[in-house]
Amino acid sequence: MDGKSKIQAEKHLTGTLVLSVFTAVLGFFQYGYSLGVINAPQKVIEAHYSRVLGIAPLDRHATNASGEDGTVPSTEPWAGTQGTLAPLADTGEDLTTSPHILTMYWSLSVSMFAIGGMISSFTVGWIGDRLGRVKAMLVVNVLSIAGNLLMGLAKFGPSHILIIAGRAVTGLYCGLSSGLVPMYVSEVSPTALRGALGTLHQLAIVTGILISQVLGLDFLLGNAELWPLLLSLSGVAALLQFFLLLLCPESPRYLYIKLGKVEEAKKNLKRLRGNCDPMKEIAEMEKEKQEAASEKKVSIRQLFTSSKYKQAVIVALMVQISQQFSGINAIFYYSTNIFERAGVDQPVYATIGVGVVNTVFTVISVFLVEKAGRRFLFLAGLTGMLLSAVAMTVGLVLLSQFAWMSYVSMVAIFLFVVFFEVGPGPIPWFIVAELFSQGPRPAAIAVAGFCNWACNFIVGMCFQYIADLCGPYVFVIFVALLLVFVLFAYFKVPETKGKSFEEIAAVFRRKKLTAKTMTELVDLRGSEEA
Ligand code: GLC
Repeated sequence: MDGKSKIQAEKHLTGTLVLSVFTAVLGFFQYGYSLGVINAPQKVIEAHYSRVLGIAPLDRHATNASGEDGTVPSTEPWAGTQGTLAPLADTGEDLTTSPHILTMYWSLSVSMFAIGGMISSFTVGWIGDRLGRVKAMLVVNVLSIAGNLLMGLAKFGPSHILIIAGRAVTGLYCGLSSGLVPMYVSEVSPTALRGALGTLHQLAIVTGILISQVLGLDFLLGNAELWPLLLSLSGVAALLQFFLLLLCPESPRYLYIKLGKVEEAKKNLKRLRGNCDPMKEIAEMEKEKQEAASEKKVSIRQLFTSSKYKQAVIVALMVQISQQFSGINAIFYYSTNIFERAGVDQPVYATIGVGVVNTVFTVISVFLVEKAGRRFLFLAGLTGMLLSAVAMTVGLVLLSQFAWMSYVSMVAIFLFVVFFEVGPGPIPWFIVAELFSQGPRPAAIAVAGFCNWACNFIVGMCFQYIADLCGPYVFVIFVALLLVFVLFAYFKVPETKGKSFEEIAAVFRRKKLTAKTMTELVDLRGSEEA
């Protein structure tokens, strides 16, 4: 085989590979759906809570002309007062504290998802190694189905409790899934396609976000009757994933390296690669296995204490921190509010516009990532976000003087999302699996996942407070953070495109550096000398 046809062969997509990757990323679709779904129906669900709890609805909802917010048409069998809010005098509720209780229940409904994710992401390595990648993904679906059932049945019980519990349990599922899926996808993908297939995680997330935004429109499912269905619909993806997983081959890397099942690994590799000769990859796995044997299994604690992993751990954590503290979820959680502040007429549709732009550019990055490389796209994306955040701030600050500044802010928000999807969105999800060899990989994925969820939670919780405090200057914080991330990426993030796991691990261990990797990783030299 000449060089060109060899590369073509390495990029060959078989039906089994497509099925396996598609099935796995259904887990990320659910993550995106759960992330986006809670935004649109906020008003109707809060109104429902206020009726269930027998307390006053929040002021900001009381003026809704449709009456949807003040009075919730009741069809619930358990409801005490049909059709209207319980009279406040009857409940004995303290009027001054009621809105706070409502806000608290709503905040918990939103944020329990990230708490669930944070907790379970720590167990990813253990479950993935113990059950195998496929069986683990299969088993954890039970959590998704249970969580979605709790939310779907919310009208038949104490809704606030059922939703908070349901969000927590789906969060547990998504935390596990956000580790297991990249682990599996990176292990079944041929090196030449690893980046492109890895980008599909992000594509699945943004598709989930977009679909939840559209279904959340009030004339579809985001209304007083159908919101339980809206919240629980990702259970359908869980069921689909459950059944499709039965057809997916276990990761050959897991079989070969963890279990020593050589023949089964070869068989599965043949299913995934078609007619290609599996021997090159088997040889690669053998090398990785020997390394893993000499490394022993690495615990989370060892990951932090061993100097061998220091550089890679810092990079793995910083890419997650950059992704979340870039401020992207400030846009996804609060875009409608931000558009309102920026003077946009139809903020809900502008939000859906963000979802569409988000999806389109994620598709583009699927094709870019194997051409331009991870490092370049990550850096370019962060730089673009930095400039967009500056433009957004200028637009918001000068809005009171020039009405046309609302267009500046709107375009800047769209560009912010575009640049995010070019690199900082998709790359962190798969680069961690690339940065570590088999020994420390599960621990590294767990730690990176936890870090991502924790930062996501912090932005979700704090942004509203910071926005109230800083007004139009709110994005200045992200400008400063983005500047730090750009510098970090420039000096520290290596290129992983087209390298085997072993080559990448070797780079970080500062062993076996070839002349080529040396020139590409000048940044590491600095730290060695220090
Ligand atoms: C990434 C982030 C997620 C964010 C999404 C937006 O997947 O991890 O938090 O909401 O991108 O597209």
